Amino acid sequence: MYRHSYRTSNEPNGTRVTTRITVAETERLVLTRPHPDDAAAVFAVHGDPETNRYNPTGPMPSAEAGVEFLRTMIEDWERDGIGYCAVAPRERPGEVFGFAGTRLTRRLRPDGVPVFNLYYRFSPVAWGRGLAREAVDVTVALARRTLPTMPIFALIDADNVPSPALARRVGFRPSDAFVDVEGRDVYLLPRQDSVAETVDA
Ligand SMILES: CC(C)(COP(=O)(O)OP(=O)(O)OC[C@H]1O[C@@H](n2cnc3c(N)ncnc32)[C@H](O)[C@@H]1OP(=O)(O)O)[C@@H](O)C(=O)NCCC(=O)NCCS
Repeated sequence: MYRHSYRTSNEPNGTRVTTRITVAETERLVLTRPHPDDAAAVFAVHGDPETNRYNPTGPMPSAEAGVEFLRTMIEDWERDGIGYCAVAPRERPGEVFGFAGTRLTRRLRPDGVPVFNLYYRFSPVAWGRGLAREAVDVTVALARRTLPTMPIFALIDADNVPSPALARRVGFRPSDAFVDVEGRDVYLLPRQDSVAETVDA
């Protein structure tokens, strides 16, 4: 069903057009599947020292690394039908200023059990306006709708200040379901319908 992250069509004048696929719209935002044209936006957001202040490995080192990350995001959507989204102002889907969403992964838990990993990183121009929260809320709802019983985790460096604040606003809580091999704090979104969530996860 989810064969392609974007649609390619051949126009009468011979050009090939790839259409951005909308995942969700909110009051102020449009979330789309990452698009081949997003390489510059990926590097702008991830290569900025400000957006990596709490990232021990520092900013993304090169535009090529951005292309590689974009490729993995597109592949996630093609394989799983869900993944990280490009986030832009609602009226201008191509002006991507952040990335947010959940991807399915076996590499989060040391025991290899598949879970959702929540991710978010926004350009500083989007900070302090509740935009990240708006985007994360809708991606978490999408993850719940797609695979209702799949746990959603977020791994956050202990010295990061805004990130755990956002995770908590969305409803995540510290979890001892596993110990992260990289030493990050583990957060889990409790399932509203199950008091046994911490046992199941
Ligand atoms: C983590 C990150 C996305 C948080 O961004 P953010 O803008 O602080 O988060 P929110 O969208 O929830 O916005 C909340 C802020 O907007 C303010 N705000 C303004 N208008 C608002 C509105 N209409 N609705 C909600 N909040 C609003 C809030 O008061 C709050 O500001 P404060 O933290 O100064 O009190 C951002 O800091 C970031 O990209 N950091 C770098 C990447 C990173 O660390 N990622 C996580 C790796 S684990």
